[in-house]
This record gives sequence, structure tokens and C-alpha cells, in this order.
Amino acid sequence: MPRASLEKQPHEVAAMFDEVAHRYDRTNDVLSLRQDRRWRSHVARALDVRPGETVLDLAAGTGTSSECLADAGARVVPCDFSLGMLEVGKRRRDDLAFVAGDALHLPFADGAFDAVTISFGLRNVVEVDAALIELRRVTRHGGRLVICEFSHPTWGPLRRVYSGYLMRALPPVARRVSSSPDSYVYLAESIQQWPDQVALATMIRGAGWEDVAYRNLSGGIVALHRAIRP
Ligand SMILES: C[S@@+](CC[C@H](N)C(=O)[O-])C[C@H]1O[C@@H](n2cnc3c(N)ncnc32)[C@H](O)[C@@H]1O
Repeated sequence: MPRASLEKQPHEVAAMFDEVAHRYDRTNDVLSLRQDRRWRSHVARALDVRPGETVLDLAAGTGTSSECLADAGARVVPCDFSLGMLEVGKRRRDDLAFVAGDALHLPFADGAFDAVTISFGLRNVVEVDAALIELRRVTRHGGRLVICEFSHPTWGPLRRVYSGYLMRALPPVARRVSSSPDSYVYLAESIQQWPDQVALATMIRGAGWEDVAYRNLSGGIVALHRAIRP
């Protein structure tokens, strides 16, 4: 997978999120026109969380992606390697059990979770295949995976408008609302270079997951991929 200018070391990725942490949620709301809230409720539904289940929310950042899952009655473990994001999260929701951890070496036992999920995080992980394998390791047999990630609009005209938004409109807006506009240039580039829906499904299967399926949200601006641990 080409990573081009996106070839960051893990410590650079963590540092980038440390830097944007205190304005992360506000910036997200502005840049996604508050669509992120709708996308998050789809994640909880796709994961089909049942009360009392233990769920890993990997790359949870400030825990915004964990909230719907906790509200559905799950025991959520938000995990991230940016201490800056975790600090903001802990201040916001001190009822959530935040854990510092790297997607490539998760600090959890084999089969520890009924379900695992990652929202807008997999694209930032330096070794995507390794992260998918590590997620499988910590999921029990029959457990579920849901990945929520930016993807590629399927309708040509929307694809062109969206690409213009990412490359031309997003950077100036980010300059106004974010503490680190460069990070949002990285965001735009990383979205454009990310595998499409079918290619990501193939990667998930390649990492040993079964029953892989996906659905598009907002015309494919975001895709939800689901899978089961055999
Ligand atoms: C765009 S934020 C998403 C946060 C949250 N899931 C949400 O939906 O708002 C991406 C997160 O991925 C985390 N991340 C990237 N690579 C990681 C890794 N190798 N291990 C753990 N977290 C990672 C970053 O620190 C960052 O908090």
C-alpha cells in the first residue's frame, strides 16, 4: 500500500495526535459537519453490542467512539497510544477505563474480548495487516470486528466533489479550527491513499477474519467493515 508522504514513524503519529488532542472533538464536528455522530451510532448497531459484553475500542483517542458502546451497556476498554488523546478523554469521561497501548502489541490476553472495533484509527496505524492480526488475537472465537473508516464515494460526481473538499476546502477550514493544520493535510492525503472498500475487505480476510462484509455510509465517504473471528 503506498504511504507516500504518509510514511510516519509510530512515535510521530502519536505525537501528531498529542498535538491535536485538546481540539480534536471540536475539529471533527466542524470538518464532518457533525456527520461523525451519525457514523458512530451505526458502529454501535453494526457491532450489535449486548449489555455486559467486553468490547475493545482500539485507537479510541479521546473516547468519543467508545461512548455509544458504553451507553449500549458494554464494558468498553478504550485503548490508544497517544497519551495526549487519553488525557483529554479521561478528563471528559472518567467513567471509561482508558488503557495506553499500541495496536501492534496490544496489552491484552488472547480471546479477551467479545467484540473489537476501531473508528478512524486503522488508517493511521503504520502496519495495517499486523494490527488486523493483533485484533483477531484478542477477540474470542465467534467474536465480532467492526471497522469504521473513511473510504471512497462510489458515485463519480460525489467522488469528485469530495476530493475537491479534501484537497482544497479542508486545509483552510482546519487552519481556523485546529491546533495543528498540518495534521489535517495529512488526514486528507491519508484518506485519498487508503484502500477502497473491496481492497480493505480483502486485507481483513487475509488477516484471518471470516464472513467479511461492508456497507457504505454517506455514499461511501465512510465504510463500515464487519467480520467474525473463526
Ligand atoms: C482519528 S483518531 C480516532 C479516535 C477515535 N476512535 C474517534 O473515532 O474519534 C485516530 C487515533 O488512532 C490512534 N492510533 C494510531 N496508531 C495507533 C497505534 N499503533 N496504536 C494505538 N493507537 C493508535 C491515534 O493516537 C489517534 O488517537
